[in-house]
Amino acid sequence: MSGGSLAFSGSVRGELRQAVLLVTIDNPPVNALSADVRAGLMAALDQVERSVEIRAMVITGAGKTFIGGADIREFGKPSVDPILPTVIERIEVFAKPVAAAINGAALGGGLELALACHHRIAAPVAQMGLPEVKLGIVPGAGGTQRLPRLAGIPAAIDLIGSGRSVKAAEASSLGIIDAVSKADLIETAIAAATALAGHDLRRTGSLAVPSAEPTDVEKARSKILKKVRGQQAPSEAIRLVEMATRAIAEGLADERDTFLRLRDSEQAAALRHVFFAERQASKVEGLDGIEPRPVETIGICGLGLMGSGIAVAALGAGYRVIGLDQTGEAAERGRQGIIALLERNLSSGRLDQAGFEAQTTRLSVTAQDLDLAPSDLVIEAVFDDLDVKVDLFRRLDRVLRPDAVLATNTSYLNPDEIAASTLHPERVLGLHFFSPAHVMRLLEVVRCGKTAPDVLATGLAVAKKLRKLAVVTGVTEGFIGNRIFSAYRREAEFLLEDGALPHEIDAALESYGFPMGLFAVYDMAGLEIAWARRKRQAAGRNPSERYVEIADRLCEAGRLGQKAGRGWYAYNPDGKRQLDPEVTAFIENCRAEKGITPCSFTAEEIVKRLLAAMSYEGRRLLDEDIASRESDIDLVMINGYGFPAQKGGPMFAAQTPR
Ligand code: 3HC
Repeated sequence: MSGGSLAFSGSVRGELRQAVLLVTIDNPPVNALSADVRAGLMAALDQVERSVEIRAMVITGAGKTFIGGADIREFGKPSVDPILPTVIERIEVFAKPVAAAINGAALGGGLELALACHHRIAAPVAQMGLPEVKLGIVPGAGGTQRLPRLAGIPAAIDLIGSGRSVKAAEASSLGIIDAVSKADLIETAIAAATALAGHDLRRTGSLAVPSAEPTDVEKARSKILKKVRGQQAPSEAIRLVEMATRAIAEGLADERDTFLRLRDSEQAAALRHVFFAERQASKVEGLDGIEPRPVETIGICGLGLMGSGIAVAALGAGYRVIGLDQTGEAAERGRQGIIALLERNLSSGRLDQAGFEAQTTRLSVTAQDLDLAPSDLVIEAVFDDLDVKVDLFRRLDRVLRPDAVLATNTSYLNPDEIAASTLHPERVLGLHFFSPAHVMRLLEVVRCGKTAPDVLATGLAVAKKLRKLAVVTGVTEGFIGNRIFSAYRREAEFLLEDGALPHEIDAALESYGFPMGLFAVYDMAGLEIAWARRKRQAAGRNPSERYVEIADRLCEAGRLGQKAGRGWYAYNPDGKRQLDPEVTAFIENCRAEKGITPCSFTAEEIVKRLLAAMSYEGRRLLDEDIASRESDIDLVMINGYGFPAQKGGPMFAAQTPR
């Protein structure tokens, strides 16, 4: 029997293929399991149940996604029947075989639906995962109970606790799917479903959880918990996975209660804000219909720490890289530094031997400007000095094609001044990477006064290929991130003068969720660069503005941070941080000189003042048109400055009652 298309709902259609109903979910953009999809799936199941001719069912997704998960936009609204667990549980106990033909991403509820099917086959490109913890929730439709039954507890802890997704080959080796399709996915799935008809079905919920070594469970658990400071969802997810040995009904009930409780939590609201903020960030005004310039070869000037990190990111994304440094020896040192980073990726398993070789063959280094001529984009990462950069850009002007794009990685200089020194300022933009550039996800893409739209689009396209989170910023000293960071730092120093001590401020920040307090970070980074900048700026400083001298005093006393063995804290030879009465004395002297009577602050008050300073500066950036939207500012602070994602960023947090 075969027939035309049947509509089970607006977004679910069916097609009879011999004795199998092929059900396609077509709910763009990502086939999320919205109410209409759930209703459509139930209607399809009704049809299969009723029909004597139909012996099995195959579920797939239209386009390049299988199912992108529950519809996140429905969270926070009253639930609409049938809820997802009802659909999924019906599939699991269904009398006739149901197979999942996983054509693309099967995430969250999408994978949970597939886990309840009686057969799972995936295209090689399909990606599978339970990323719910990234949204501050646990899987809510059986994922914590069914995944361990297929993949075992340690693997389930790893996948659910981290939210990472795996490609079909890994999913197959973990036991999550039954096969990777080598031929036509749908035909193979239909054949598999047909073969199962009339046989006992393998129902995931009835399987026993494979036994695991307690040490493996502990290893998986501690690996996750080490990284998720202050977040509730990962530990709840791990708890549920570890208890999957209970009767499935009990496990599912506990999972659902936990899901609902977390879904309505502040952390989940904040992380949902972050999810949508990331999608918003790529929508940039004025770029509709603008094609980026093609980029295959990237020139990188300056192969120090930053330049090498950018090179590794570019090689990893498939670009050819030409590195330039001042002398042949410096260029060779740079090449070795890049290779060492690639070797680290090789030994950690992030890169295989073939990938390593491919990347090294795409790398060349030189000390001759002329060798950069084939570059489609050149990123400079040389010393942050205007004369040095202007000189370099003038030289590049002479050797590059006029349509090649020029990017500066400056942190504090004015890229408009650099652009003005070139013949084609419209091809100049800023690409402000964060160190280490091959690890940090954030990239501030600086739209200079004269940057052409297709040049900006090129910066964004390259950022996407580098798998960076790009946020567009206008030109201002320090761009979005360092402007807010300066305001935050200034307020922290006011707090010092007003009565708080560095360790109190750090403890308040850490308990709020920052991985490290501000003063501990200063010490780790070293205090000398900021000191040098303050000295340069001293002459232009407005004498009526409040200025805190404590940091200068520390530097004058040689307390330059952890490397010097002392900074805001003192350090043992083994690097352990401890309080130092000398620092307290410096602070007290500075207060006394200004006649300030210190007050005491609670951790809450400290955080409130710091947040207020950050969000105030954020509003100024919006008023000055430097940032386009509040959520962009949140992304910068979360991804570049350790602001806890589960608080949503400083702009979001400022509007959330604490
Ligand atoms: N619900 C609602 N909208 C979603 C969505 C979802 N689950 N996933 C993506 N979208 C939207 C995005 O907001 C974006 O909308 P916009 O165009 O209006 O900005 C659009 O779909 C496209 O998204 P991307 O730009 O991310 O598209 P990509 O093609 O780059 O990536 C994807 C596709 C891999 C599916 C990616 O969107 C993704 O990772 N989505 C989230 C997956 C997820 O977290 N699922 C779990 C949901 S929670 C859940 O299932 C609970 C369950 O356990 C009960």
